[in-house]
Amino acid sequence: MIWKTQINSITKTKYPIVMGAFAGLGTGKFAASFSNSGGLGIVTALNYDLDSFKAVLKEIKTLTNKPVGINLSIAPPGIKTARGNLNEEDYLQYVEIGLNEGIKIFTTSAYRAAFIGKRVHEADCYWFHKCALPRHALSAEKAGADAVTIVGIEGAGAKHPLQQSTFVNIPLTKGLLKIPIIAAGGIGSAHSFLGALGLGAEGVCLGTVLMVTEECPTTKEIKKKWINTNIFEENYHKKIYDFNSKDIKTPSTAINYAKKIIPIKQLIKRIIKNAEFILKSWGFDSEEFSTFPKN
Ligand SMILES: Cc1cc2nc3c(=O)[nH]c(=O)nc-3n(C[C@H](O)[C@H](O)[C@H](O)COP(=O)(O)O)c2cc1C
Repeated sequence: MIWKTQINSITKTKYPIVMGAFAGLGTGKFAASFSNSGGLGIVTALNYDLDSFKAVLKEIKTLTNKPVGINLSIAPPGIKTARGNLNEEDYLQYVEIGLNEGIKIFTTSAYRAAFIGKRVHEADCYWFHKCALPRHALSAEKAGADAVTIVGIEGAGAKHPLQQSTFVNIPLTKGLLKIPIIAAGGIGSAHSFLGALGLGAEGVCLGTVLMVTEECPTTKEIKKKWINTNIFEENYHKKIYDFNSKDIKTPSTAINYAKKIIPIKQLIKRIIKNAEFILKSWGFDSEEFSTFPKN
């Protein structure tokens, strides 16, 4: 089946599936494997200093001929990143390297990133911003973002005190915005993928389920520990729904979809194959799935 949404029309990937950003783990090789599986692999730029970042983007071209994007997680003023205190000029140096190496999709997260969108647009490339609240998504649209990723409270990563669930976020944000939305938070199966599209998303972003793939550069012990997570255990529940959490060491509820360590290709294939099976079981008999309105 051909998959055609506003998101993979922009990303030029086979599927409307985008890799999350991962502090410490979003490496070039990991991103290349994701891109080779039909989604948009994302290199987490701040995992590297400028010279290594350039080298990694060059290396990626030997690992995949598919599109790859980058992420810059923007810290609010005065807050340190993995590379220390950064100002706009510092972030823009990463953008320049990305542009020089042929990157077309620049994703940002956390704090305001319109200065990045402006530079990216001058170069005729795309800016996707990730946020936690519909009103932040609206601000990103007003600032010129080409798409927003909105993360539900059940997702892994830093939380916002007013964050809602993925099921609440997507239709609400869809009603507010004109630009396409990518759903994140708790997604990792065919039903959750199709569910997100049904709620109004044009694509999904995967985080937790990728952490336990073969290619994720963390230890087998951590992957096994994550797979054994009981999402109904009290401490886990308290942690994942803690609105003040900055924790990235707790898997999201999407871990429920990961039963063993498998290659990324197998994971994506399973999601897509099962999604196509579900669509057929609902009576969908086209060879193309498109979210573009029919004339
Ligand atoms: C280990 C780990 C590190 C992460 N680091 C970042 C980060 O540096 N910047 C960011 O924007 N999101 C970060 N995230 C969030 C993911 O990019 C993504 O938004 C989230 O995992 C999606 O929800 P899910 O885990 O339910 O799939 C991280 C997630 C994990 C699991």
